[in-house]
Amino acid sequence: MSLPTRVRIVEVGPRDGLQNEKTIIAAADKIELINRLSDTGLRSIEATSFVSPKWVPQLADAAEVYAGITRRDGVAYPVLVPNLQGYERARAVGATEVAVFSAASEAFNRKNINASIDESIERFLPVLERAAADQVKVRGYVSTVLGCPYQGDVAVADVVRVARRMHALGCYEISLGDTIGMGTPGKARAMLRAVAGEVPMAALAVHFHDTRGQALANILACLEEGVAVVDAAISGTGGCPYAPGASGNVASEDVVYMLEGMGIDTGVDLAKLVATGRWLAARLGRASGSKVTLAAH
Ligand code: HMG
Ligand code: MG
Repeated sequence: MSLPTRVRIVEVGPRDGLQNEKTIIAAADKIELINRLSDTGLRSIEATSFVSPKWVPQLADAAEVYAGITRRDGVAYPVLVPNLQGYERARAVGATEVAVFSAASEAFNRKNINASIDESIERFLPVLERAAADQVKVRGYVSTVLGCPYQGDVAVADVVRVARRMHALGCYEISLGDTIGMGTPGKARAMLRAVAGEVPMAALAVHFHDTRGQALANILACLEEGVAVVDAAISGTGGCPYAPGASGNVASEDVVYMLEGMGIDTGVDLAKLVATGRWLAARLGRASGSKVTLAAH
């Protein structure tokens, strides 16, 4: 059991956070959010998603937002794309990293993207081909790795199979998503260990929604298992509109507080992150979902 000395946080608030907030904030505010996040030391900020605006109206302004941000050297700004149409929209505004997504549960995939697991992979195969030719990096998500809102339990073997396939197809990193926060530390650890038997640990990330308050405990269990990339959302925003019961992602502020408190370097300035989270909560007209932000004076 050895903890990493350094962890990369993938900030998913502008995408996973804002895609499921009741209040839709203006494109200018989304741009300001990403610019503020870029100034905190974060090295990966998922900026938006180029999905169907009918399915996710909150992010219908993806092109305007992406074109409006100030891209800082050394910071990656991946965007979520479900298919070639999304990839082309993303490339038209200059995206150089994208993320494709599937799930370990057939039922969830059907509700989320109207496709089976195999169909979802077929849809993004041309994305992977084009991305390789364009030298665009592709991250991959596997959802429902610790449970599904429609199917219930999800077999670890199904998570391993989808993660292995996406990695083999060229995703440089696979983010394992506990979409509705069903996991507990022992199960999270066992799932990660099984996937790491097929995909190198250095190519894995964890993505916990905090629906049942288990996210930090699950992250710690996974760090002990060797993972060094953690997804989180500023202010604990968000969830998936097609996953009933999905609350926000674990709050980035709380993850940074825990990691830095354990002597693990994140490169992130917590005070700036807290200030950004407060600013966003005011824009959304609700309390921050970060305990650290609520406790800070
Ligand atoms: P569909 O209706 O089956 O697709 O949707 P279609 O190919 O028949 O297209 C229907 C219409 O959508 C057409 O327009 C297309 O042009 C348009 P129409 O002719 O009706 O005017 N369309 C698009 N428009 C813009 N951009 C595109 C695009 N593609 C098609 N890229 C589709 C299939 C995948 C498009 C749809 O189901 C969709 O967009 N789903 C997105 C759902 C979503 O964003 N969910 C949240 C993200 S996943 C998540 O949050 C989990 C994660 O965080 C990890 C975790 O927590 O586990 C990643
Ligand atoms: Mg998510």
